[in-house]
Amino acid sequence: MSRLIVRPSGPLSGEVVIGGAKNSALKLMAATLLAPGRYVLRNVPDIADVDTMSQLLEAIGCSVRRREDDALEIERPQRVTPEAPYELVEQMRASTAVLGPLLASEGRASVAKPGGDNFGDRPIDMHLRSLEQLGATFELSHGVIEGRADGLVGRPQVLEYPSVGATENLLMAAVLASGTTTIENAACEPEIADLAAFLNRMGAHVLGAGSPTITIEGVETLHPVEHVTIPDRIEVATYLSAVGVAGGEVTLRGARSDHLEILIERMGHMGLRISPEADGLWVRGPERPRATDLVTLPYPGLATDHLPLLVAVLSIADGTSFATENVFANRFRYVGELGRMGANIRVDGHHLVIDGVDRLEGAPVQAVDIRAGAALVVAGLGADGETVIHDAHHVDRGYASLVEQLARLGADISRDT
Ligand code: UD1
Repeated sequence: MSRLIVRPSGPLSGEVVIGGAKNSALKLMAATLLAPGRYVLRNVPDIADVDTMSQLLEAIGCSVRRREDDALEIERPQRVTPEAPYELVEQMRASTAVLGPLLASEGRASVAKPGGDNFGDRPIDMHLRSLEQLGATFELSHGVIEGRADGLVGRPQVLEYPSVGATENLLMAAVLASGTTTIENAACEPEIADLAAFLNRMGAHVLGAGSPTITIEGVETLHPVEHVTIPDRIEVATYLSAVGVAGGEVTLRGARSDHLEILIERMGHMGLRISPEADGLWVRGPERPRATDLVTLPYPGLATDHLPLLVAVLSIADGTSFATENVFANRFRYVGELGRMGANIRVDGHHLVIDGVDRLEGAPVQAVDIRAGAALVVAGLGADGETVIHDAHHVDRGYASLVEQLARLGADISRDT
């Protein structure tokens, strides 16, 4: 298992290039199941989760080829096997995104039921209920969700919570349903708007994606297209946090400030100077970060994926910070790892009280998920001695070149395989 080794670093300087958004690319890949033909997805990050989704599409019958230029070519044949096996769903929950497109295009989908993960119990009840509203039926048999749909029919829907995954599955099913579907309380994440733009290019009629009310006028057929994935806003938060800890001046090429308003505002409070540039963001780190309060919420609120990174910065801030995690019930496993590095963080239910310490100490720590691993990298930049991050394969699920790009900015980071 590979490990990352991080030593005290900074000030950082130079430029990084932000890749395509993992959470968008995976759904765009699933959406290619909606119509046969050859798709080109550009700006798809070269990460393990994209490999897993490629394997899933191949298991279903598609062929997937990565080109040199960060594009994926996907050929979706006329006939596919609409099954998502346990081995792949267990590796990556986003595999459940094939449910909506397979039901809509094949009238049938077998998807292994996802279990819990490091964020705690992660049900897909909302995905299933909203697809049932369009006429699909589901049975659980030996751990596999067997879905059937004999012609989906558009319907008004109100989501009880703006779930990203449920909104996406519903959207991908409703584009081929007969009649009109409205989704109230839809998730508003930029990745939803990206998916809708892709679907519209394929010939779908989706209005309002990116807002809480989405209207989908079903169409009979869709066709393959080319599309460019939006930049990854979590990768942006990762480099901003690195500068928050290590200091310096960095340009993040390709970052979109319009997707990051709350993050930029909160990091401003923490003492970072961030300003938009023609094709990205410029950031300057503070002498020492300042304490601030954070609350995660569905978009446009602060993203739950941003919190571990920001907590790493606040662990060395001047003063006491309060942070509340509202999206996932059990997403604090990284806090104990920061504690091993000397961070003074108290967990109280879904709240954190972070008493900033002057300096962290390098220690052996474990990456429990993608962002937890990245948060430990960020913390390691500001820790005395050596931080050894075990289970670095989690980090590789979401970052194509974190080690290389940080090293290029002057960070002392390497991989030990
Ligand atoms: C997606 C992102 C993830 C991000 C999250 C929230 C991908 C691959 N992952 O995850 O990185 O952190 O959005 O922005 O795109 N819930 C239910 N029942 C459901 C669905 C969700 O109870 O059927 C709950 C979840 O347990 C969680 C909350 O709703 O508490 C939010 O989940 P959701 O927005 O669906 O997140 P994901 O789509 O799983």
